[in-house]
This record gives sequence, C-alpha cells and structure tokens, in this order.
Amino acid sequence: MAEPSLFFLCKTDDLAPGEARRIVRDDGDIAVYNLDGTFYATEDRCSHGLSSLGEGEIVGDEIECSMHFGSFHIATGEPRQPPCSVPIRTYKVEVRGDDVFAVL
Ligand code: FES
Repeated sequence: MAEPSLFFLCKTDDLAPGEARRIVRDDGDIAVYNLDGTFYATEDRCSHGLSSLGEGEIVGDEIECSMHFGSFHIATGEPRQPPCSVPIRTYKVEVRGDDVFAVL
C-alpha cells in the first residue's frame, strides 16, 4: 500500500477563522476551512451539482453550497441540508509550523 502523501493547502494565516477556500489540484480540487482556528479539508465539489464548496459560506460547523444552499457537516462530510444527500469526502489535515496540508 502506498504511503500517504501531504498536499500543501495554505499557510495558517492565509485563512481567517470562518473562511473557506478552494485549492486547485490536478486530481480533484480540495476545499480547506478554518473553524475557530482548526483546519479541515474536504473535496471541493458539491455532491449535488458540482459547485465549489470552497466558494460557499461557513455556517456554524457546516459549509453551505452557494448554488442551491444545501450544506454538509465540515468535519464528517455528512449532508445536513437538502438538496444535498450524498456525503462528500473528507481529508485528514496536518499543520506543520504554519503550513497546512491535506493527507492524501
Ligand atoms: S450544487 Fe451544491 S447544493 Fe446544489
């Protein structure tokens, strides 16, 4: 089995608490979130209609999709508000110094 690899997402001060961002990646974009100083990452693509979740709005512990306003629990990827019904992939996040990585 291949060793997990780290994919650089951003610097810790690139993203203020309550902000999300889309990170472009060849094998599928990743959304990174800062929830009160803790970083999370999910696939960027909404499972409902392919919109970017990194361009959505964080509401509490959920990311609200800007297309049809469905939402997902950021930590688990579980759908929380319709029309979203299919979970999204989440990634483990590792912070080393002031660099934030997704573990792939
Ligand atoms: S594309 Fe995200 S809720 Fe429809």
